[in-house]
Order: sequence, then structure tokens, then C-alpha cells
Amino acid sequence: MVDPENRTNGKSEPRDRRPVLHICLTCRPAGLGPDAPDEPAAGSRLHDAVVSRLRDRDLEEAIRVNPIACMANCEQGCSAALSAPGKWSYIAGFLGADLADDMIDYAMVYAASRTGVVMPSKRAPSLRDVVVARVPAHPDDVPEQRDGA
Ligand code: FES
Repeated sequence: MVDPENRTNGKSEPRDRRPVLHICLTCRPAGLGPDAPDEPAAGSRLHDAVVSRLRDRDLEEAIRVNPIACMANCEQGCSAALSAPGKWSYIAGFLGADLADDMIDYAMVYAASRTGVVMPSKRAPSLRDVVVARVPAHPDDVPEQRDGA
């Protein structure tokens, strides 16, 4: 069980509080059928672009990348999500490999936010309308939410 007071993972080491950028590897562009069979899916291309740009920008240690297959957001195009302990999680759609740097910038602003809230004006113009849903932090991970505050 998570210890919300000292923010540990139940072990002796502190919890990893870095943001996690979950990227769907199997996403196809919105409204389009399967990619050419010999080409990687758009989500896979976004993942590879993010990993490459994190390396180029020397940010590999700042943001964790979690490749995943399907976040049930398939109708909204290439999808990714941001999460971190104690923060709102955000699901975004309509992405593409060309937005890798913008997603990294978003993740860095998200990392600096106490709650995870990043207003659209603080995101790149390409990402202002891509958030399709948000999910609150687990109540056990945010002491004030346990009290209904
Ligand atoms: S295949 Fe990417 S969200 Fe479903």
C-alpha cells in the first residue's frame, strides 16, 4: 500500500515522481484504416520519435516513457497519456510523430505542476485541443482528496 504521508512505495526508497508518458503503440490516425502493412503504426512512430527526441534533448531521465497497446481511445487518433503520483492524469488524442517535441514540452510543464493541471495556454498551439479526458489521482495518493476537499 502507498504511504501518502512520506510518499514512499512501501519500500525503503522514495517513490519515483517523474511524469510517465504512456504512448499507444497500436494507434492509427483518426478516421483512417490500418497503415500500410509493412509500416509501423502511427502510435509506434510517435513513441519512437519521443524516445529519440528525449535522447537528443538529454531528457531521458526527466520523463519516463511507457509503451502500451490501446488506451480505448482509438476513435480519437494517435493517443498518449500523462500521469504522475498525486496528480491528475490526462489522455490526449489526434497526435503524431511530428508532435514529439511538443509532447515532451508538455510533459516538462506537467512535471513542474503541483497538481498536473496545465492550462491549454501553457501547451504548444498544436496541443491546445488534444486533451480528451482527465482522471483524478488515486485518493490514497492525495491526502486532501481523502477528506473530500
Ligand atoms: S489503438 Fe491506440 S487507443 Fe486504441
